[in-house]
Amino acid sequence: MHNPCRICGGTVKGSIDLGRHPRGNAFPRPGETADEFFYRLVVGMCDVCTMVQLLEDIPQEVRYHDEYPYHASGSAIHRRHFEEIAQGFLDTELTGPDPFAVEIGSNDGVMLARIARAGVRHLGVEPSRQVAEMSRAKGVRVLPEFFDEGTAERIRAEHGPADVMFGANVIAHISHLASVLRGAALLLARTGVFVFEEPYLGSVVEKTAFDILYDEHSFVFSVRAIQAAAERFGLELVDARPMEIHGGSMRYTLAPAGARPVSPRVGELLEKEAAQGLGEHATLEEFARRARTVRDDLTALVRDLHAQGKRIVGYGAPAKITTVTNYCGIGPDLIPFVCDSTPSKQGRLVAGTHIPVRAPEAFSADHPDYALLFAWNHAEEIMAKEREFAERGGRWILYVPDVHIV
Ligand code: TMP
Ligand code: ZN
Repeated sequence: MHNPCRICGGTVKGSIDLGRHPRGNAFPRPGETADEFFYRLVVGMCDVCTMVQLLEDIPQEVRYHDEYPYHASGSAIHRRHFEEIAQGFLDTELTGPDPFAVEIGSNDGVMLARIARAGVRHLGVEPSRQVAEMSRAKGVRVLPEFFDEGTAERIRAEHGPADVMFGANVIAHISHLASVLRGAALLLARTGVFVFEEPYLGSVVEKTAFDILYDEHSFVFSVRAIQAAAERFGLELVDARPMEIHGGSMRYTLAPAGARPVSPRVGELLEKEAAQGLGEHATLEEFARRARTVRDDLTALVRDLHAQGKRIVGYGAPAKITTVTNYCGIGPDLIPFVCDSTPSKQGRLVAGTHIPVRAPEAFSADHPDYALLFAWNHAEEIMAKEREFAERGGRWILYVPDVHIV
């Protein structure tokens, strides 16, 4: 499978083929599974600019709809993380006269609410209605649209240039990324910055975190690919910082080309990426082989425990669960339910495999023998919360970076 690159028009060769998958965040209701949407989950790298991307493009209206179930403030650690980011901007980039901040995909307003409370002009651009309503309730101003070049032009005409543009776990979701970068170049003040943090290819490869691959992740960014993409649209990568959040992310800072000094971290990370072989097809092919090993090991372990009469339930229903359970063929026969704290996911099913999602009380009320941790990036928070489970002899199954029991 080959496709033209969405950034530069180069050739993208499919190196990782995980087969047919439904949408990661579909979470259908029981009885609504007859006409599930499936696509072929194939990921590859551009020959020219090295951007890693999905080969099949799922229309954004299918993905982000009125009932989009993901809430960014669902974890206490994430809430603190976004409040710290907001405070960081208030202390640095937003100190001039009448500053203006724009967030792309402002979700439930977890970041912008802090900026709103400080009385700073801001605008969230968020097309998913329910989460946009949640942010309005926090005093956040929201434009219910997808961000692109046209939106950027209208925002600039109405509000003036942006001192800060921000996006978290959203920029890599946008298949029209080229238009977003053109829009950022249009909307940013000469002294402004566009900061975004997204799952990092280096961490995904290092951890064999194949579950980060699903329909919403149109791209998996690297420093090298972001540097090249920025350059094409009159921007410059001036800083990049690794983050632990979401199992390994990178925070990129873009500025208008030539406007700011470039941090030495950028060069250091580029060297590290070259040493890791991140720009090579062979690295993705090796990753695909390791993903198959994880699949075989996880399936064998779960089947074996089930055959021994052990009770296994799932913990956490992030979009990642859809990739893992569909790729491994793990359904309700092996895992009768998965618990998740997000109310809008409870009572729903994991797309494709139809494992029911229940409230965390279903877990604590009747501890199983094993819990398969799908929200592995929240391991610390969840294991602390569910200490009693382990104290009573329960064991956690993890599959990142390989299948193991703790
Ligand atoms: P995320 O990795 O995309 O943030 O998704 C994490 C999922 O795990 C989300 O659906 C909420 C769920 N979750 C719990 O059920 N309990 C918890 O304690 C935490 C932190 C997350
Ligand atoms: Zn390219």
